[in-house]
Formats: sequence, structure tokens, C-alpha cells
Amino acid sequence: MPIIEEAEPLRIIQITDLHLQAHPEEGLGWCPHCDDLDTTETLSTVLDDIQVNEPCFDALVVTGDIAQKGEAEAYRRFVRLLQDEGSPVYCLPGNHDDRQQLSAALDGEVVSMPRFIIKKDWLLLFLDTSRRGVDQGEISTIQLGWIEAMVEKFPQHHAALFIHHHPLPVGSEWLDTHHGMIGADAALAQLGTVPQLKTIVCGHIHQQLDRQHGHIRVLGTPSTCLQFLPESEHLSFTAQTPAYRRLVLHRDGSIETEVLFSHQPWLAARLRRKRGFRELPPQAV
Ligand SMILES: [Fe+2]
Repeated sequence: MPIIEEAEPLRIIQITDLHLQAHPEEGLGWCPHCDDLDTTETLSTVLDDIQVNEPCFDALVVTGDIAQKGEAEAYRRFVRLLQDEGSPVYCLPGNHDDRQQLSAALDGEVVSMPRFIIKKDWLLLFLDTSRRGVDQGEISTIQLGWIEAMVEKFPQHHAALFIHHHPLPVGSEWLDTHHGMIGADAALAQLGTVPQLKTIVCGHIHQQLDRQHGHIRVLGTPSTCLQFLPESEHLSFTAQTPAYRRLVLHRDGSIETEVLFSHQPWLAARLRRKRGFRELPPQAV
């Protein structure tokens, strides 16, 4: 009897919202207790976890807010840290990023900013949802047309769309209103007519999101630095540690995924000590 090998899925690691700073001593400016946080240190912790937990993956995707203030030095450090990953690194900008500075820092080999990639049975689409000078995002009519055209061009492939902004409300007034996606309902309605599109994977919300919208699984991922308190009226934080997402994209279009928070005891203890940071179980959605 012939041995039928199980088809290998596509394995993707997502990291998001790194908020690297050219001068970490300046602080993030988000709250009085945030300013001693070195986002390069927290990113390194997550990269160490990935090295330990993920023996093989096909690509690492970075879904925006790579730098806090869009500074060239922050992007150069990002590339230096990611260059040794051993797998290709695909990135896209968020509302905190400067696309030109990011583009200038990329090495063009390991770390790049492609519009799309074909891997195994999947079409990976990378879209810049940021709008100049504002925190809100948008998928424009032109971008929606491009997604449809790409999916038509590769009809045998399942599609995964990677963006920065969240396309569904997460229940936090400040995040959904002032930092949300303009015209999200219309964009999602149109994307809902694209059967090959299996998932939209975003960052920006610094918390977990896993919701089915029609046939599309919408996934949001915690940050490699600080996590936002879900369902909060104003910007508030949890004591959850930095995290990344593991995505296993199967050849039949099904998806397995998990968010992995860092278990570094020194980091967990430091975050727990911060005044006003709500303690949530690491797996809380
Ligand atoms: Fe963001």
C-alpha cells in the first residue's frame, strides 16, 4: 500500500506593534508608568521565545507600528534584529510608521515589504491601511479592487490578508472610534464576496481578537510590547506579557492559530508591579 504523505501546511509567525524607538530613554509617552519600558528589549524577548518554540516556519509577518515615531534608527535596529531569523520577514506599515523611512532601512533580502507572496497553496496579501497624519485606517476602493484582482489571478489559492488596523470593533470606545477603520463595514461586506479570502490578520489593537465574519476569520494579535485593556473607555493597560501569533494555514484552507505570551518571569513580574495595569490570565481574549 503506498504511503501518502500528509501535505505540509504553510507556517507563519506574526508579530505586531513593536513601537521601537531611536532613543528608548525618551519613553513611549502613553502613561507615567510606561516610560521605563524598552521596546527593543521586549521585542528581543519575543524573538527569543520564537526561536525556542518554533523549530520551523515559512515566514515571519510584521503587521505595522514597527517604530513609535517613524525614526530611521528605529527601522535600522528592526532590520538588524530580524535579519537573522532564517526565514523571510514580510512587513507592512501602521499608523505610527513612516513608510519611506521603513522602506529605506529594509535590506531587500531577508526583510522586505512585498505587496503579495505566493507560498504553497496560499496567496498572502499585504496591505497598507494607514492614512497620512491620522491614527484611523482605511481600505480604499482601489485597494479593494486590487484584492479582488489578485484573487482572480490566483483562483486555485486560498488568500490571507495582512493589515494593520482592525476591521471589526473590539468594544473599546477610544480604539474603535478614534483609531478604527473608516468604512470598515462596507469594506468587509465587499471582502465577504471573495470566497477564497479565508482570513484577515491585523495588529493595532494590542489584544487578542478571533472572530468569524461570514466565511472570513478575523484575527488580531497582542503587541510585542504593552497590551491594551479590552473593552475600556480610555487607553488602559494589562499586565499581560509581550506575545506573538502562530498561524498554520492548511492546504484545504482551514486555519489553526494560537497566541503565545512570553513566560519570561522577570518581565511578567515587572509588568505586574506597574500601577493600574490590570492582571488578566494570559489566555484571556
Ligand atoms: Fe497602531
